[in-house]
Order: sequence, then structure tokens, then C-alpha cells
Amino acid sequence: MLPARWSFRPLNIPVTLPRVARIRIAATTEIAEGKTITFSFTRDDRPQEGFVGRFKGKLFAYENTCRHIPLTLDYGDNRFFDSKGETLICQTHGAVYEPDTGLCTRGPCAGASLFALEIIEENGAVWFAEEPL
Ligand code: FES
Repeated sequence: MLPARWSFRPLNIPVTLPRVARIRIAATTEIAEGKTITFSFTRDDRPQEGFVGRFKGKLFAYENTCRHIPLTLDYGDNRFFDSKGETLICQTHGAVYEPDTGLCTRGPCAGASLFALEIIEENGAVWFAEEPL
């Protein structure tokens, strides 16, 4: 038996952990260097689209929304990289973004950045965690 000062007294505080929905985007091996994959998610009850890709060996993920005008960067054809695989390009007016930082370096929104999305690489797959339910 424990001394009185060590006795266990449960706290009467209800604990509710936020439920988070995870979306499996793809197997890690499917996202090769210079490749991108789009995925859908919801935020504030509104459908959104994001894309994940790999640049210089590292994964990145951004909302598929240009910082010039809120249009998708691609035309629904999953084309985000330039022909050399060095930058991301908005198909509408040609804004150029750094893949690893999301910073727009050239074009009508120079200095603005894509909205980064948090992704998790686990169990051989890449996941996106939506906001708590
Ligand atoms: S909408 Fe992307 S550069 Fe204008």
C-alpha cells in the first residue's frame, strides 16, 4: 500500500481529444522526384484541393491556390513543375514559385507564398491530417 501522500486520486477533469481525419494521399514511393499528386480535403466545411510533390528529395505540400488570383495553379492536369522540374508555375499568368518554400519569385504575386499544408509520412504512405472533427 502506498503512503497517504502517494495515493492515487483521479482528477475529475473530462478529457476530450480532438478527432482528426487522416487522408491517405499516396504511397511514398508514388511521389518520385519532380512528381506531384493532387488531393481533396475540407476546411471550414468547404472543399479544397492540395498537391504534394517531391523536390531535391524532400516532400512538400501546398494548397492548390495561386496567390495572385485564387485559381488553381494547374488546369486540373496535375502540371505544377516547369519543364526542367526546378520551379512551380501557375498556368494562368505564369507566377513562378520555389518548390521547397512556396515563395513566389517572379510574376504578379512576387513576394507572396503558397499556403503550405502539413503532411505526415508514415507506414510507407503520405497523409494529410484535416482539422479536428
Ligand atoms: S492566377 Fe496565378 S499568376 Fe495569375
